[in-house]
Amino acid sequence: MLNLNFNPFPVLRTQRLLLRQVVEADVPYVIKIRGNEEAMRYIPRPRAKTEEDALGVIAMLTNGISEGKSINWAICNAQNPNEIYGIMGYVNFYPQELKAEIGYMLHPDYWGKGYVPEAIIAVEKFGFENIKLELIEAKIDPRNDNSRKVLLRNNYQFDRLMQKEMTFENEALDSEYYIKHRM
Ligand SMILES: CC(C)(COP(=O)(O)OP(=O)(O)OC[C@H]1O[C@@H](n2cnc3c(N)ncnc32)[C@H](O)[C@@H]1OP(=O)(O)O)[C@@H](O)C(=O)NCCC(=O)NCCS
Repeated sequence: MLNLNFNPFPVLRTQRLLLRQVVEADVPYVIKIRGNEEAMRYIPRPRAKTEEDALGVIAMLTNGISEGKSINWAICNAQNPNEIYGIMGYVNFYPQELKAEIGYMLHPDYWGKGYVPEAIIAVEKFGFENIKLELIEAKIDPRNDNSRKVLLRNNYQFDRLMQKEMTFENEALDSEYYIKHRM
């Protein structure tokens, strides 16, 4: 059985990062990150452009945590946890299969510094050891070379290609799935 009780919220730490809950005071960063065209290019979700949009995103993240349906962390500067580089977490749980889908994004100012590879290790450790996952799955747009690099370097294996799996803004989108089993 998965342990989907996230109260108190599990703060995670790595060498350079602190991973904490996204709260309402983070609205400006949520707009900066979830409103950024480049960061959202391969994420089929509407961009958060206004304070209202950002509050909607934060409410969705908060409800996901309290209902045990998802858990997302703000990826912060460990020296200044008010500064958010990006957001990462388990965006869906599949309790029957002891599986979760992982998702992550950074503002482009923070790309190429190895932050997601660093954060993913802590998030996976929490997933396998605390949530008791057996399998983590990641789904990417096949054009998203940067995301594929992160997964392959982190020992995810290609599982399947789903063609025209979903439609977003009138475009039929393919998805590549990558998986990692608990060791
Ligand atoms: C995919 C992503 C999370 C990678 O995180 P990261 O912390 O930057 O990962 P890395 O530091 O390991 O960099 C990965 C690759 O990004 C590329 N990259 C780095 N900086 C870049 C930049 N400024 N512009 C374009 N590509 C860049 C590099 O090719 C790098 O690979 P390399 O190490 O072989 O040079 C990040 O690019 C991102 O947030 N993208 C937008 C959101 C997104 O697509 N999320 C995934 C949805 S499935």
